[in-house]
Amino acid sequence: MQIVIVGAGYVGLVSSACFAEAGIDVTCVDSNAERIRQLRKGHIPIFEPGLEELAERNAGAGRLVFRDDLGDEIARADAVFIAVGTPTRRDSQAADLSFVNQAARGIAERLDPTQGRTVIVTKSTVPVGTASSIEQLVIASRPELMPGRDFDVASNPEFLREGSAIEDFMRPDRVICGTEDAHAERVLRELYAPLIVRGTPMMFTDRATAELIKLTSNSFLAMKVSFINEMADLCEQCNADVQDLARGLGLDQRIGPRFLRAGPGFGGSCFPKDADALVAVAREHGVDAQLVEATIRVNDGRKHAMAERIRAVMEGSVAGKRIAVLGVTFKPNTDDLREAPSLVIIPELIAMGASVSAYDPAASANARTVPAFRGVLWAESAEEAMRRADALVVLTEWDEFRSLSAQRMAALLREPIVVDLRNALDPQDLQSAGLHYYGVGRGRVQPTPALGIDRGRMPD
Ligand code: UDX
Repeated sequence: MQIVIVGAGYVGLVSSACFAEAGIDVTCVDSNAERIRQLRKGHIPIFEPGLEELAERNAGAGRLVFRDDLGDEIARADAVFIAVGTPTRRDSQAADLSFVNQAARGIAERLDPTQGRTVIVTKSTVPVGTASSIEQLVIASRPELMPGRDFDVASNPEFLREGSAIEDFMRPDRVICGTEDAHAERVLRELYAPLIVRGTPMMFTDRATAELIKLTSNSFLAMKVSFINEMADLCEQCNADVQDLARGLGLDQRIGPRFLRAGPGFGGSCFPKDADALVAVAREHGVDAQLVEATIRVNDGRKHAMAERIRAVMEGSVAGKRIAVLGVTFKPNTDDLREAPSLVIIPELIAMGASVSAYDPAASANARTVPAFRGVLWAESAEEAMRRADALVVLTEWDEFRSLSAQRMAALLREPIVVDLRNALDPQDLQSAGLHYYGVGRGRVQPTPALGIDRGRMPD
């Protein structure tokens, strides 16, 4: 099979490399000529574990080709995936579809029924009704073409998490496809055949439902995170432990253990954007998505509340104090800063008069140019960041922070204060080194050992 993937961003690159790995001939197209030049040299512009090797192997085998313009592969392709960005519009919470529509117009111009029937597939996260509007756009620009005969438009949303995207693509919980056309279904089944062999459920539904599954999936997960964050606040007031609470909740098969880790709030390029998009889509259809709106409100408020919490822990003032921050990315195993809690917390600490020394294993380099981090002193290691600081704040739960020695922390810090906004460190270990430990939702530092339940790390 032969496909084209339009968009060499996060979703497009991971999808291109993984489809190529499954033996499909992939042409990955991006209008950014410099990005394509870098990709042809084997340089992957995003931080995604394993992606560089996967892309290199498949490019070397001739199954993965990079181009900076939509060429004649479109006409020969069994499927053309639209995997371009759909940022939130500045004037509303709705998704900006200008890149999607631009790609659709370019594809429409190059369709050639004499060379076969092409399935246009939206993989980007798009509002409900986008696949249908792309179909109308193609008909408008090529009136001689007929959907269901010369081309089809289907929806196939992605569910890739940054930092584990290849795993999520190659072993997904499910593949969701939106199409009412038998040909499009056949093509998608053949494309995903290597995954289906492993027993992955492949669900077919109409296009609007497939588009909505994506938005609601992310919004529901975001709601779980905002819920446990709110319960963390309650745990602190009633001397309970949010980690045990989450474990107890998660043992109910109907709830499940994942996405119940309390923290400083969710970030990333998807949860905030998709929750906003879902609220916008609901509003357009006269529905008031109150739970999703509350999810967003709780999350936004939480990031601000975290800065206040740090001030409270330091006797009500951080003015003139040096605060060491470990981790600025929105989660570990990525260099992505989009909507990260650090973008709110660090500027607020600086505005309160603190000086901030920060270290992040992946983001320190590109973080230096971020306006929100103006004035931050960037350290090359966790130890350097902590040296002579009046407090330590853990913002992202990178594995390397979990193994930091409590004794070294106590020796490096000027004041023995640790604010662990990801519950990544062991309270007892730090307290035995004489440090004051402040976690999230850990009103009770010595949680009663749960009977027979592994007290290992929380699932994600
Ligand atoms: C998410 C969805 O998981 C993925 O399916 C979709 O395709 C893209 O958006 P991603 O944004 O990469 O993936 O990150 P994810 O691992 O979902 O975490 C999102 C945010 O929630 C992060 O800021 C993370 O720190 C936070 N989070 C997650 C929590 O605070 N607690 C949790 O228990 C889980």
